[in-house]
Amino acid sequence: MIIQPKTRGFICITSHPEGCAKNVQNQIDYIKSKSPIDGAKNVLVIGASTGFGLASRITSAFGENASTIGVFFEKPPAEGRTASSGWYNTAAFEEQAHKAGLYAKSINGDAFSNEIKEQTAQLIKKDLGKIDLVIYSLASPVRTHPETGVRYKSTLKPIGNTYTNKTVDFHTGEVKEISIEACTEEDIVNTVTVMGGEDWQMWIDKLKKEGLLADNFKTVAYSYIGPKLTEPVYRKGTIGKAKDHLEATAFTITDALKDIKGKAFVSVNKALVTQSSSAIPVIPLYISLLYKVMKEKNLQEGCIEQIYRLFKERLYLGEIPVDSEGRIRIDDLEMRDDIQEKVAQLWEEATTESLPEIGDLEGYKDEFFNLFGFNFDGIDYEKDTNEMVSIPGLQ
Ligand code: NAD
Ligand code: NA
Repeated sequence: MIIQPKTRGFICITSHPEGCAKNVQNQIDYIKSKSPIDGAKNVLVIGASTGFGLASRITSAFGENASTIGVFFEKPPAEGRTASSGWYNTAAFEEQAHKAGLYAKSINGDAFSNEIKEQTAQLIKKDLGKIDLVIYSLASPVRTHPETGVRYKSTLKPIGNTYTNKTVDFHTGEVKEISIEACTEEDIVNTVTVMGGEDWQMWIDKLKKEGLLADNFKTVAYSYIGPKLTEPVYRKGTIGKAKDHLEATAFTITDALKDIKGKAFVSVNKALVTQSSSAIPVIPLYISLLYKVMKEKNLQEGCIEQIYRLFKERLYLGEIPVDSEGRIRIDDLEMRDDIQEKVAQLWEEATTESLPEIGDLEGYKDEFFNLFGFNFDGIDYEKDTNEMVSIPGLQ
């Protein structure tokens, strides 16, 4: 079929298999252009199909020659309907990994469930024996608790007071004010249940109980802090409470891994255009200003540059550098004073009229459509393409 972008609200409901393959290939090429990493040999990535998780899988495979198992929740294609982009990303990743002689298998299903944890444990046992690294990169608006069957929904709300600030609809370029009402107590509990550390811990507990974790095992989950500007809706909002919980869970997990000298870390990553961040109010305006400033200073990084740096310059150094809270920081460039001062100044000036000049709205849009395989040079989007792509190592 001929596949064009079709947006609904903030998401794109179609994706292009060749474009997704190009996106993956670009990331593989980047990793191959860098010096190899002496790191893990067997890696499990939970949330492996898009964003930071996909970049983690690519870095593991093509940067460290690791065998990888990827877990994700993606929609397969149907006749006349495209798959979700993470499906096509994974198909392309596995094809390249297999060509390079690398082990790569995938599991598509709800990572929060006991069934998917069990299936993953069995696959590790059968094929890899033990794993040395688990990357936890889930971003989900809902979680069905495996013990109670209760379905929790996360929210992106401020705590205490209504928050009013500017935002941009990046599809139209309109900058306008939005107000987000303060959350309830229940919103906090729900958001922590979905995006906090409980499920991460359940994964590690399960894998440890099955004897699948190698000595010196490491696990890393991803977090975000960001600037003062977005604090009420991000770090001091409901999602921030979940990130606090995730960060605290790193210590709990480390304690439980003492006998195998295992360690759990949270890595604080940079703000980037992903399917998840596009859905957060205010953040797209911040990102479009941030990108402009970081590109001007030649400091811009995407997911793959971030994760390469995480592995090469943090995770596999003898002593892992962390901040006063024990967190790995790869948001160091974003958080630099000169960058943040400039973004704060541009924030004041941002209007529908000025944003195309002072912000990187085009860059934002371009990256957004890239997530779904669109806007890539060298791909003919008028041409018929086969949507029925399968993932070679899907279990
Ligand atoms: P993303 O939407 O690109 O990726 C989410 C992944 O989770 C996908 O692979 C998806 O298939 C998988 N997933 C979602 N629900 C699932 C489920 N129930 N079962 C199995 N898999 C499921 O998101 P992202 O932006 O890469 O976010 C990953 C992590 O990085 C999150 O913890 C996020 O908070 C964090 N982070 C993001 C940013 C940012 O700016 N995007 C910055 C710092 C940290
Ligand atoms: Na991810």
